[in-house]
Amino acid sequence: MIMEEKTNNVAIDGPAGTGKSTVSKLLAKKLGFLMFDTGATYRAVSYGCIECKTDLTDEAACTEIARKVTVEINKESGEQRVFFDGKDCTPYIRSPEVTKAVSQVATKPAVRSVMVNLQKATTACGGFVAEGRDIGTVVFPNAKCKFYLDASLEIRTQRRLKQMQEDATYQLSSSSTPKEPTEKEIADLRETIALRDEADKKRAVGPLVAAPDAIVIDTGSFTIDQTVEELYKICVTKLDIKSE
Ligand code: DC
Repeated sequence: MIMEEKTNNVAIDGPAGTGKSTVSKLLAKKLGFLMFDTGATYRAVSYGCIECKTDLTDEAACTEIARKVTVEINKESGEQRVFFDGKDCTPYIRSPEVTKAVSQVATKPAVRSVMVNLQKATTACGGFVAEGRDIGTVVFPNAKCKFYLDASLEIRTQRRLKQMQEDATYQLSSSSTPKEPTEKEIADLRETIALRDEADKKRAVGPLVAAPDAIVIDTGSFTIDQTVEELYKICVTKLDIKSE
C-alpha cells in the first residue's frame, strides 16, 4: 500500500458560529502560517452569480462563474482577497444577498470541484491554516493536523447576534440606529443557522462532517484564546515545531 505523505497544513472545519474564522486567524499567526478562509471563495462565486443574474438552479452556468473566481493571499500581511472576473469583490461577499445565495451555490458538485482545485492550488506549498466545511475530508485529506470545531445551536446563535450588533454590515434592521433584536428576529436567525447547518451536512458532495482523524473540540465553554491555545499545543506536537 502506498502511504501518501502528510502535508504541513492545518484543517479547521465546523458549522458557522463556532469561532472558526477568528481561531484560524490567531492560530495561523501563532504558527507563522497563512490563513485561508475557503468560504470566501464560495461567496465570490455567489457574488458573480448575482452580478451576472445567473439562474442559481443552473449548475453549468454557476460553474462558468466559478471558473472566473481567483484568490490572493498576501504572504507578508496574510490579507486574503477574492476576485470575480478580475474585479476585487472582497468588500461585497458578506452582504445578505450573497449569504442567502451561497448555500445554494455551494451544493453544486461541479462548482465544488472548481473551488477545491482552486483551494488546493492556492495552498500547494504548505504552511496554511485553512477553514471551511470539507477541508479535512477533501481539500487537505493528508493534513498533519485536523480539527472540527462545534458548539450548540443556541450558543452559535448568540455569538452571531453579538457579531451582527458589532458589525454595521450585519445590522438586523435597515434603520441607522442599532437596536436590540426582537424575539422574532432571534428566532429567525436561529432558524437560518439551523437550515444552513442542514444544507451543509446533507449535501451529496463535500458535506460538513468531521474527518475520521480530526480532533473534535466543543468551543461552547471555551473563550477564543483558550481554543487557540488548545489547538496550538496539538499543532506544536503534530507539526513538530518549536513552541513560542
Ligand atoms: O464560512 P462561510 O459562512 O463564509 O461559508 C459560506 C458558505 O460556503 C456556507 O454555505 C458554507 C460554504 N462552504 C462550503 O461549502 N465549503 C467550504 N470549504 C467553505 C464554505
